[in-house]
Amino acid sequence: MNVSRNFLLLGSAFLFVGILMGMYMGGSGNHSLALSHAHINLLGFVLSAVFALTYKAYPVMTEGRLASIYFWLHFVGAVMVNLLVFLLLAQIITEAAMVPIAPLSELLVLLGILAFGWNVIKNAH
Ligand code: HEM
Ligand code: HEM
Repeated sequence: MNVSRNFLLLGSAFLFVGILMGMYMGGSGNHSLALSHAHINLLGFVLSAVFALTYKAYPVMTEGRLASIYFWLHFVGAVMVNLLVFLLLAQIITEAAMVPIAPLSELLVLLGILAFGWNVIKNAH
């Protein structure tokens, strides 16, 4: 798997959705989705872009399975977290309905960060 390219593709998809949402907020004057917009752009795009560039800077980090494990954890976790935050702010679901899927999605993001951190400690010299 080309992890760097996959992170760039994932990040670009998030950025597209995040900017569309920003344009909607700016145009409508309804800023109630601001936190969703922020996390789509930051957790979705900025983090993915940073990871893509890190893997380019340290190609040795892409050897072995940690990088692709991390990609899938971030992919599923970040998509789920962002979807749930959007549904909450758009008042489609309640906070109570987010349990236990929201903490589980956050856990995936967190486990991904641990895999990334471990990879950095082992390989990014
Ligand atoms: C054309 C592109 C964009 C438009 C039109 C746009 C528009 C907006 C609007 C209308 C708000 C709400 C402001 C408020 O109520 O305080 C906002 C908030 C925000 N935007 Fe954007 N945005 C854009 C791109 C981005 C990008 C690329 C990022 C990050 C990489 C970003 C990060 C944020 C953050 C962190 C907030 C604050 C959320 C909060 O209220 O806590 N935005 N944006
Ligand atoms: C699973 C990961 C994450 C979770 C569960 C999470 C959760 C939250 C929560 C609960 C808030 C406060 C919402 C409120 O004020 O009502 C928040 C705000 C915010 N988070 Fe995150 N966050 C995550 C990842 C990130 C990342 C990776 C970034 C940046 C790279 C980020 C940037 C921000 C910013 C800029 C704010 C808004 C601060 C403000 O305007 O008050 N978050 N986040």
